[in-house]
Amino acid sequence: MLTNSNHEIILVIDDSLTNLEILHNTLDLVGYKVMVEMDGLRGLEQAKKYSPDLILLDVMMPGMDGFETCRQLQAEPSTKNIPVIFMTGLADPEDKVKGLQLGAVDYIIKPFRKEEALARIQTHLKIRRLGLELEQQKQQLEELVQKRTAELTETLNELKRTQLQLIQNEKLSTIGQLVAGIAHEINNPVGCITGNLGQARQAVEDAIEYIRLYQAKFPNPGAELEEKAEEIDIEYILEDLPKMFVSMKAGIERICDISTSLRTFSRADVDFKILVNIHEGIDSTLMILQHRLKAQARHPAIQVIKNYGELPKIECYLGQLNQVFMNLLANAIDALEEASRGRSYEALKANPNVIAVTTEIQDEQQIVIRIADNGMGMTEEVKQRIFDPLFTTKPVGKGTGLGLAIVHQIIVEKHGGTIEVNSELGKGTEFIMKIPMA
Ligand SMILES: Nc1ncnc2c1ncn2[C@@H]1O[C@H](COP(=O)(O)OP(=O)(O)O)[C@@H](O)[C@H]1O
Ligand SMILES: [Mg+2]
Repeated sequence: MLTNSNHEIILVIDDSLTNLEILHNTLDLVGYKVMVEMDGLRGLEQAKKYSPDLILLDVMMPGMDGFETCRQLQAEPSTKNIPVIFMTGLADPEDKVKGLQLGAVDYIIKPFRKEEALARIQTHLKIRRLGLELEQQKQQLEELVQKRTAELTETLNELKRTQLQLIQNEKLSTIGQLVAGIAHEINNPVGCITGNLGQARQAVEDAIEYIRLYQAKFPNPGAELEEKAEEIDIEYILEDLPKMFVSMKAGIERICDISTSLRTFSRADVDFKILVNIHEGIDSTLMILQHRLKAQARHPAIQVIKNYGELPKIECYLGQLNQVFMNLLANAIDALEEASRGRSYEALKANPNVIAVTTEIQDEQQIVIRIADNGMGMTEEVKQRIFDPLFTTKPVGKGTGLGLAIVHQIIVEKHGGTIEVNSELGKGTEFIMKIPMA
């Protein structure tokens, strides 16, 4: 005889002691764990408590009969999947049908032959086992599908981000080339002016000295010269000319600064890491955004406060970091403009718009860069989504929602750093980036 090593539990509910004994012995011998109960109610309780793998149920019992017991087993979620085999002494076909209709899987006619009963029991236990296995496999399959779907979604997002980065890189490289071209073109005329300015200044000083000598030698040069001198205000001209040279020189120096910034910004556009001074990157980006920072008819200039710490040069993709600074600073300016709407010039003057850029070294291991503004800030909901590609709260044409997604990618993936944001609605926003130095 086949023995069972699964230790499956069979619950036998029957009011006849003789039957119970026979079944118990037969099943026990094959290796099943057998539980017995003599009435329907207690049988139900045991079924709920022990979740047997199969129930053998007598039809005719005092109190609650087999049919009612079966109905209640079916109605209870924890027992409805346990297979039930009826045991009926009546060869009445009506009873068999009724039992099967109530959800029983089979019936055994009493008095039964052990082998037949056992065969039926084993068959149904096997079906149950297979069913359970199938259910388990289905669950595993579902989990697998879910996992794969999640992986695919992640890959898709990754792909989207890469695409964004490519587009943005392409744009930046075009801008970089343009900027480098302009910086180069500016150099020649600026060089020409700088060179001539020195000579012109010398010549003007000589001419002034000569006129002074003339005036000293001929204090009364006659009506014609005196009238002309009055008309052109010669004294003012002689005073002012040297000052003009000073401001022209300052102007030229400023153009040189701009040209240097432009070159720093464009030189950064290489796709390998270079050893750089981060501050140069921030400064050149601020220079390029100058037109949005300076005073306008309706509002005073945005104050830029630089709290630069002592930073060593670090290896990084400067072009990409410039892109980060550009996006964060442009967002800060947007937030300040948004918050300034409807505020008067005087109110803004009294409570100025500020962007603070702070850098420092933390634990001799990483560089911390903070970019903060006292603009409109954001709600908790917006804060949760700012790094999502295409998320924007700005009108079409103004925002693309790509800026911070790219910033995140550059800081986290390209430089192995972190980025956090603190923000309070109506108060302002601070982005904190940490980039490892090694
Ligand atoms: N400094 C900031 N202050 C307030 N909100 C900000 C700031 N920076 C970003 N945000 C919010 O994050 C959103 C996403 O920014 P970003 O990815 O740069 O896209 P975009 O600027 O094109 O909208 C913005 O639309 C804005 O709502
Ligand atoms: Mg932006």
